[in-house]
Amino acid sequence: MRTMKIGKSGIEASVVGIGAWAIGGDSQWGPSDESESIRTIHRARELGVTLLDTAPAYGLGHSEDVVGKALVGRRSDYVLSTKCGLRWDVKEGSLMMERDGVRIMRNTRPERLAEEIEMSLRRLKTDYIDIYIVHWQALPDFPCPIADTMGFLTDLKKQGKIRAIGAANLNREQFIEYTAVGQLDLIQEKYSMLDRVAEDTFFDLCDQHGVTFQAYSPLERGTLTGKITVDTKVNLTTAKSKVKWFQPENLPKIAALAEKWAPLCRKYDCSMTQLVIGWTAAQGNGHNVNALCGARKLDQIEENAKGGDVVLDAVDIAAMRLDAEAIA
Ligand SMILES: NC(=O)c1ccc[n+]([C@@H]2O[C@H](COP(=O)([O-])OP(=O)(O)OC[C@H]3O[C@@H](n4cnc5c(N)ncnc54)[C@H](OP(=O)(O)O)[C@@H]3O)[C@@H](O)[C@H]2O)c1
Repeated sequence: MRTMKIGKSGIEASVVGIGAWAIGGDSQWGPSDESESIRTIHRARELGVTLLDTAPAYGLGHSEDVVGKALVGRRSDYVLSTKCGLRWDVKEGSLMMERDGVRIMRNTRPERLAEEIEMSLRRLKTDYIDIYIVHWQALPDFPCPIADTMGFLTDLKKQGKIRAIGAANLNREQFIEYTAVGQLDLIQEKYSMLDRVAEDTFFDLCDQHGVTFQAYSPLERGTLTGKITVDTKVNLTTAKSKVKWFQPENLPKIAALAEKWAPLCRKYDCSMTQLVIGWTAAQGNGHNVNALCGARKLDQIEENAKGGDVVLDAVDIAAMRLDAEAIA
């Protein structure tokens, strides 16, 4: 597994990460098997996947709980990221969403983050987080200056509770604000070969400021594996129902891509999933993109991890880009 530097933090992590959102289960993903999730996290490490991402909001603490169990006795083997800024246990904040009767609020104020970090450390059974990411940004109806949030996170870093600061779901102005007031080492944004909006928004800034771009949902929640056809019975839970590629009229387009790329899969001796992961990691302006792929099953991590070893020729990267553009 290739590795890469995370911003200027000095942290070295695998090019492919394992995302533990689905491990949280709930209505977003449907139930997950806890022991298989733990085995998947352990297998990831055996395959060289060191970067492990979770968040308090994934299953309202459940994903962090499961990750915490998986990390017992193995903490230093992983680069662990979790997040802050979403609360379901306090009333104040901007309403992010209502899920299963629970109101989830955006709140990035330092006094709330001070509570959150302790709760995450407890659930994760650790005394430090490698990359601490602001999950969603404050909204005007419950504002918090980025300088205040960043000031608090920088203090956490000085105390040794976190090693690097990240931010997710930003706009360009917010990125610039973060980097103006502190050291931002990673941004985590929605990015796949079928949804490349983030490259125009962020790649130049990441390059300029030495910030790692981490792509979330690079597999479009499983559709870009090429394994789902119109006949596949998919439990369209909330997370998947938001992905347009699961719609019956779009699945044939993905199947056509799979067919078109069959020769490439033969050339690189890999599956479509691995080709897509290899393509994703090859993006960015001269630096690798970190490909954060969700996995909660052994066969998924076995396949995804090998995607980190697929290094594509420039001509194939360009051709795949055109193929994806033709259907997106
Ligand atoms: N910052 C944010 O706001 C944010 C938002 C979204 C995601 N994320 C992070 O990014 C991670 C990845 O994003 P994501 O989970 O949305 O999307 P993804 O990586 O595109 O898709 C993950 C899902 O695809 C299916 N899958 C994965 N590998 C597969 C394989 N080899 N073969 C067949 N199916 C496979 C699995 O679904 P099943 O388990 O149902 O089979 C898996 O849960 C998350 O886990 C989370 O850590 C962050």
